[in-house]
Amino acid sequence: MCGIIGYTGQNDSVPILIEGLKALEYRGYDSAGISVSKDNSIKTVKSKGRLDRLAEKIKQTGNIFGNCGIGHTRWATHGEPSDVNSHPHCAETLALVHNGIIENYAEIEEVLVGAGYTFESDTDTERAAKLIDMFYKKEHDPLYAIRKACRVIRGSYALGIIFNDIKDTIFATRKDSPLIVSKSDSGCLIASDIPAILGYTREYYRLGEGIIAKIEKSDITFYDENGDTTEATLEKINWNVEQAQKGGFPHFMLKEIHDEPDAVRKTLSPHMKDGLPYFDVPLLDTEKIASFDRIHIVACGTAMHAGIIGKTVIERLARIPVNVEIASEFRYRDPILGKNDLVILISQSGETADTLAALRHCKAEGVFTLAIVNVVGSSVAREADAVLYTGAGPEIAVASTKAYTVQCALLYLMAIRIALAANKISTGEAANLCASMLKTIPESIYDILSKNDVIRNIASRLVSCEHAFFIGRDMDASIATEASLKLKEISYIHSEAYAAGELKHGTISLVTDGTPVVALATVEKICEKTVSGIREVKSRGGYVIVATTPSLAEKYNIPYDSIIPLPEIPEFLLPFPLITSVQMLAYHVSALKGLDVDKPRNLAKSVTVE
Ligand code: F6R
Repeated sequence: MCGIIGYTGQNDSVPILIEGLKALEYRGYDSAGISVSKDNSIKTVKSKGRLDRLAEKIKQTGNIFGNCGIGHTRWATHGEPSDVNSHPHCAETLALVHNGIIENYAEIEEVLVGAGYTFESDTDTERAAKLIDMFYKKEHDPLYAIRKACRVIRGSYALGIIFNDIKDTIFATRKDSPLIVSKSDSGCLIASDIPAILGYTREYYRLGEGIIAKIEKSDITFYDENGDTTEATLEKINWNVEQAQKGGFPHFMLKEIHDEPDAVRKTLSPHMKDGLPYFDVPLLDTEKIASFDRIHIVACGTAMHAGIIGKTVIERLARIPVNVEIASEFRYRDPILGKNDLVILISQSGETADTLAALRHCKAEGVFTLAIVNVVGSSVAREADAVLYTGAGPEIAVASTKAYTVQCALLYLMAIRIALAANKISTGEAANLCASMLKTIPESIYDILSKNDVIRNIASRLVSCEHAFFIGRDMDASIATEASLKLKEISYIHSEAYAAGELKHGTISLVTDGTPVVALATVEKICEKTVSGIREVKSRGGYVIVATTPSLAEKYNIPYDSIIPLPEIPEFLLPFPLITSVQMLAYHVSALKGLDVDKPRNLAKSVTVE
């Protein structure tokens, strides 16, 4: 959600800013801009639309270069995407880029109007820029001005600021929005996320909340809220440049789906020891687990859908009640949290504002919190009582795929661990399940990847439809929620997920001749009932695509128009190839429609505003 980059060093900053913005474009892509300082003046170029339009405008403007600059790619919050609402926003003494939301921008505007300021844009960010400008003009002290402004501002922000009379220096600070700073051989950088700096360095500092960083050509100084210098911890990047590239695939999404077998192994292996689940966190000690009355899983979007899978498998294996909650609703509905409850927060980015707010609510209530996070050192990871990392590596496509698959895999492993501790399964059973997960999940995903052409053919049947349904029962109903989200977010086809038995209670009125209904049928005990649901759809003219194994299709005489054949593996693990198959289906529909698969309209990755 908005990408920030900044560079000061020996080289011209402009190409570095553009490259950095390219690497961050998944965070927002409705407009972009850069400001570069040279000889006590700042030049700014901004443009509505994708980065190539900005690059073109920079070329046309010409004469933009300088060793120090900041850049921004935007996901609009205040004000429509337009040249004038793009960042950086400038005041007389400075230019500023911002990721986040300033909630009290109207109050700030009132103060500024009183001081004689006028505004060009509709953005909260311009108000922040002018507030800092006002304080800067008083004392001519950048640290004082930023600190004073941050005391006034309510909301979330990561800020990068350059002053026109402070040579080759960027100032940065943040609250509830991510920002990293780093040194390279040729200069220093700030960025919203690691992919932007991967080409320059393997080390970075994650800027602490409320800390101000002064970034010079070869030096970074950190100041605390009192203005005293302070230290930050140098962290190592455990991703490589190739992982954050398309690797020959036409889209990041397809590449990331192909990463899944390896990502599953990288997620499961560190959490297994002697063939059994192994979680090196006291929260998952046998005694502790035995004390849990209830588990709450809190997350947003796809991560929340992984939580639904977690609920199904934990309740089945461990017989502990699990609530799944949407993070944006959770804290506002005053949830009932017991002292012996465990709250699991799931997040790929670890920066999702609603998930972070839910985590803070739980901590304030004194409830144990465990985070399942992909990005090492992110806010959710650092603030939870304990963290388990997934091994998906960088996920660049806005639509999450491999992160979901590995979240599900880790939740499966946790379910086995909890069931073992609660004496619901034997050590032998747990060992068998673990061994089969480690081998069969990656193999079964490879099997689905090899059926690319079959799935693309089926996808071509969906390209021209306006509505689609995903139905299933039990675990299949849980997966249908994510399958439906994937299709709608990248193909713009309206789609709904329904428990197969629920369709007849109203929604089936929408099924007419040719309406595509994707039926997920992997749960044998309820297969006959799913078949009844499919027959109801077929008798109303629906076009049925079924995802099942050939043996279930034959045994239960499942009616269908097209079939996605799943591999013949134990039912417990069938969700994994099924997940991959519906991700591929959504991918191909979007690609066949010629849409921008990796950057769907109105969206951005890592939602750092509430
Ligand atoms: C959809 C998608 C989103 C995210 C959600 C939570 O494809 O990616 O629904 O899952 O915004 O993001 P994280 O997992 O970063 O907290």
